[in-house]
Amino acid sequence: MRHTTRIKACVFDAYGTLFDVHSVSARAEALAPTHGADLSRLWRAKQLEYTWLASLMSGPGYARPDFHEVTAMALDYAVAALVLPIDADARADLAREYERLAPYADAATALESLAPLPRWILSNGTRAMLDPLVRASRLAEVLDGVISVDEAGVYKPSPRVYALAVERLSVEPETIAFVSANGWDAAGAQAFGMTAIWINRSVAPVERHAGAPAHVVGSLAEAVAVARAA
Ligand code: LAC
Repeated sequence: MRHTTRIKACVFDAYGTLFDVHSVSARAEALAPTHGADLSRLWRAKQLEYTWLASLMSGPGYARPDFHEVTAMALDYAVAALVLPIDADARADLAREYERLAPYADAATALESLAPLPRWILSNGTRAMLDPLVRASRLAEVLDGVISVDEAGVYKPSPRVYALAVERLSVEPETIAFVSANGWDAAGAQAFGMTAIWINRSVAPVERHAGAPAHVVGSLAEAVAVARAA
């Protein structure tokens, strides 16, 4: 049966999807030779874990830290866990790399080819992190807008986050192609009702805690081709 969803907008995750979070590895390697890749991996894993914990713990006794704070706390943890000699100033410098992450090589072309479909980012990042990043990478020129989870006061994969895109774009959830390289984020968008496209760059198994995303692809270029054909 031919499915009839007409995609009216494309919404992208930022970190890990359009921007390579592991582009911090070179700087990390310079600060802690032979440990750059391990530090980058543990930092990212803790960063995500802290977003989920922060969403669960938010309440009268705990104010949700924003993604800038979460990123710094996760780096502190990773440096301590790996027992690396990276002092507070160097950690602050390393965290600032998040404003200069490298976009994936096919990101600009993929976004450009989607026009005139609206192309947005929906990210855990704060606007103060995302705005310089999209400017520095020049992806701002091929994007129509940026939404931060801060508007919902909770992190992905809360349905309140995906609802932000529906409200902003004024279209039905299933007509939004949501593109993420984070399997749990694709699962969240799909459960919310969007048409999720998971970029499975590392050929990982599909997440088991929710329904599978509508599409699984290997690159941004393929994600865009799927969105245009859907
Ligand atoms: C983001 C995280 C999930 O950009 O990478 O929202």
